[in-house]
Amino acid sequence: MTAPASAPLAYRVALSDHARSDAQRAAILEGDLGFGRHFTDHMVAIQWDKAQGWHDAQVHAYGPLVLDPAAAVLHYGQEIFEGIKAYRHADGSVWTFRPDANGQRLQRSAARLTLPQLPVAEFTESLRQLIAVDHAWVPSAPESSLYFRPFMIATEAFLGVRPAQAAAYFVIASPAGAYFARGVAPVSIWLSEDYARAAKGGTGAAKCGGNYAASLLPQQEAHAQGCSQVLFLDPVEGRYLEELGGMNVFLVHRDGRIVTPELSGSILEGITRASVLQLARDRGLVVEERKVSIDEWKQGVAAGDITEVFACGTAAVITPIGELKGRDFAVGDIHAPAGEVTMAIRRELTDIQYGRVPDRHGWMARLR
Ligand code: PLP
Ligand code: COI
Repeated sequence: MTAPASAPLAYRVALSDHARSDAQRAAILEGDLGFGRHFTDHMVAIQWDKAQGWHDAQVHAYGPLVLDPAAAVLHYGQEIFEGIKAYRHADGSVWTFRPDANGQRLQRSAARLTLPQLPVAEFTESLRQLIAVDHAWVPSAPESSLYFRPFMIATEAFLGVRPAQAAAYFVIASPAGAYFARGVAPVSIWLSEDYARAAKGGTGAAKCGGNYAASLLPQQEAHAQGCSQVLFLDPVEGRYLEELGGMNVFLVHRDGRIVTPELSGSILEGITRASVLQLARDRGLVVEERKVSIDEWKQGVAAGDITEVFACGTAAVITPIGELKGRDFAVGDIHAPAGEVTMAIRRELTDIQYGRVPDRHGWMARLR
């Protein structure tokens, strides 16, 4: 379903007639942003069907979608999404981080969910088009950003179970602060012993809504236990770490090794994960992508061999994990300060993203 090479999409831009005033926007941006609660004035919409390919690219007012009640997405969950941020630099310019990597991952997700592949250049262009009209929504407070949520749904009205022949791609954007209520403070994680996030041969490596729907019940269990995220184990043996509901995970050993679960086919291949691996290598740390058993975590932390654990993702950035809890155990100390390696890599990653240090890997792309 790869789209044939074609001319870049031409956008129709219709500005919102009910955009927030400068004062209304400032009140939002200067308040407590949280994550995913506020949305900008506009959105991108691009249509696809089998006959025409990608067409009808628009920037228009943010607002409800009109969908046929038989649209395939509503019945069979044919949906994928991305998460990527825009960062305001000190000179006012607006940048994003590794958009090609997100564009490629959207294509891989599309392949798994039999949705059409948006060309990577069109993915980045869709972010640029939204920033052209909504750049004032990119916050400038420390640690804040504009979180883009690109997503694609099957729109064909047809109840037979087969890949839809019509789809739509959208981008909405949300000014965001820290994902976790306590900012970069260490969080508690709940080990899901009853539920897996993904199956062998399933959709775990794709960023599709169904994976997150499946994570909500264990996530609710985590919250009931006073934890802010849930850790999933491999779906076959229930022994090896996979990832958290919305983040990858790293363990730092006392001898300086930094370890993360290898890509198993059911883990989401995080762009932050890949960047952390690179920054760790740059620091001369030994990095290991391999199977990591839950016993290695429990025993390593208890024995002091594992000195730091952290989660990483676009929304979470890098968040220290203070404690891991399960039905009959708890390891770690939620009150211990965040680890040094965790915070050094976090500082370097965010320094690159906010333009405070040179971008030696060519990761940043200017949007405006
Ligand atoms: N794993 C899951 C399940 C996620 O939802 C995310 C977030 O996007 C990640 C890992 C981290 O991916 P990235 O660093 O590309 O945001
Ligand atoms: C992201 O980090 O972009 C995600 O999609 C994860 C989700 C928990 C918000």
